[in-house]
Amino acid sequence: MDQVRLGRTDARVSVVGLGCGGHSRLGMARGATSAQAADLVKQAIDRGITFIDTAMSYGTEEAVGLGMRGRDRTSLFLSTKSWVSNARAETGADYLTPAEFTANLDASLRRLGTDYVDLFHLHGVSLDQLDYAREELLPEMKRQQAAGKLRFIGMTEVFRQDTEHRMLETALPHGEVDVVMVGFNLLNPSARKTVFPLTIKYDIGTLIMFAVRRGLNSVENTREAVDKLIALGEVNPAAINPRDPLDFLRATPGVRSQIEAAYRFCRHEPGAHVVLTGTGSAAHLEENIAAILAPPLPEEAQAKLRAIFGDARSISAD
Ligand SMILES: NC(=O)c1ccc[n+]([C@@H]2O[C@H](COP(=O)([O-])OP(=O)(O)OC[C@H]3O[C@@H](n4cnc5c(N)ncnc54)[C@H](OP(=O)(O)O)[C@@H]3O)[C@@H](O)[C@H]2O)c1
Repeated sequence: MDQVRLGRTDARVSVVGLGCGGHSRLGMARGATSAQAADLVKQAIDRGITFIDTAMSYGTEEAVGLGMRGRDRTSLFLSTKSWVSNARAETGADYLTPAEFTANLDASLRRLGTDYVDLFHLHGVSLDQLDYAREELLPEMKRQQAAGKLRFIGMTEVFRQDTEHRMLETALPHGEVDVVMVGFNLLNPSARKTVFPLTIKYDIGTLIMFAVRRGLNSVENTREAVDKLIALGEVNPAAINPRDPLDFLRATPGVRSQIEAAYRFCRHEPGAHVVLTGTGSAAHLEENIAAILAPPLPEEAQAKLRAIFGDARSISAD
């Protein structure tokens, strides 16, 4: 397994991160039991994955705790999260008090069966929540950090709505967070212009979400996503095969599939550290590890992607 330095945390973690949320939630979204989800965590650890991302809201923290049991805790880098409001992140109102926020952290620690997490995030912060998060919750996170319950402070965006990364663009220059989770994929590479220059400048660790999601997991879903980009005027229909917009990628020598290409695309982006993969399937996990460890896409394919999707910024490919 390749290792990467996670920005100023100075931690060395696996370049492949196990994402325990998303549409699959380690298979629990399709009815897998906690024990079956834990088997996927064990498989990931056996394959050398040391970065594991979960959240209070995913319902997978117990499974992660189960999967980690008996492993060397210090060899793993565990990431979890709490919303900043009682309602879903995007609503903005009804903020958690610092005490409620810390109660969430404590509950996560109990479910995970550990007395510290390596990374605790403010989960899905929208631009209108940022001031509250910075003024009220970050100081509380610092107190919990001093108490030894979390090692590093993270923040994740609501990529489905904030497809141009306005929250992170505003937050990053403050230099308060150690790591951010950012949406990035070949149908919306806008973080290349807005986020990565800042994370590189401030030496902030990056976790890539939405590498595949739904928009890239089948030809039909990609066609639907690209149709939206065409309607928005962000992709020129004359530049692609509208029925199968990524056919040229699959025809590229050495590219095994559209999904493989999507993970490779993210892995080799300058500024990208950990590429998260979210799956409920043991076979998909193996394929995705191989994809993330594969070499960069050939330059010709990368150039074509830049020419077609380089200005795309208004969909997340959710
Ligand atoms: N704001 C936030 O904080 C936030 C938001 C979203 C996600 N996240 C984090 O980011 C992680 C990654 O995002 P994601 O879960 O959406 O992951 P992803 O890796 O971009 O996409 C996963 C989707 O693609 C499918 N898939 C994966 N590998 C496949 C393969 N080899 N063949 C066919 N289908 C495949 C999965 O279904 P199968 O189960 O069938 O494989 C799943 O539906 C999440 O798990 C979570 O930890 C955070």
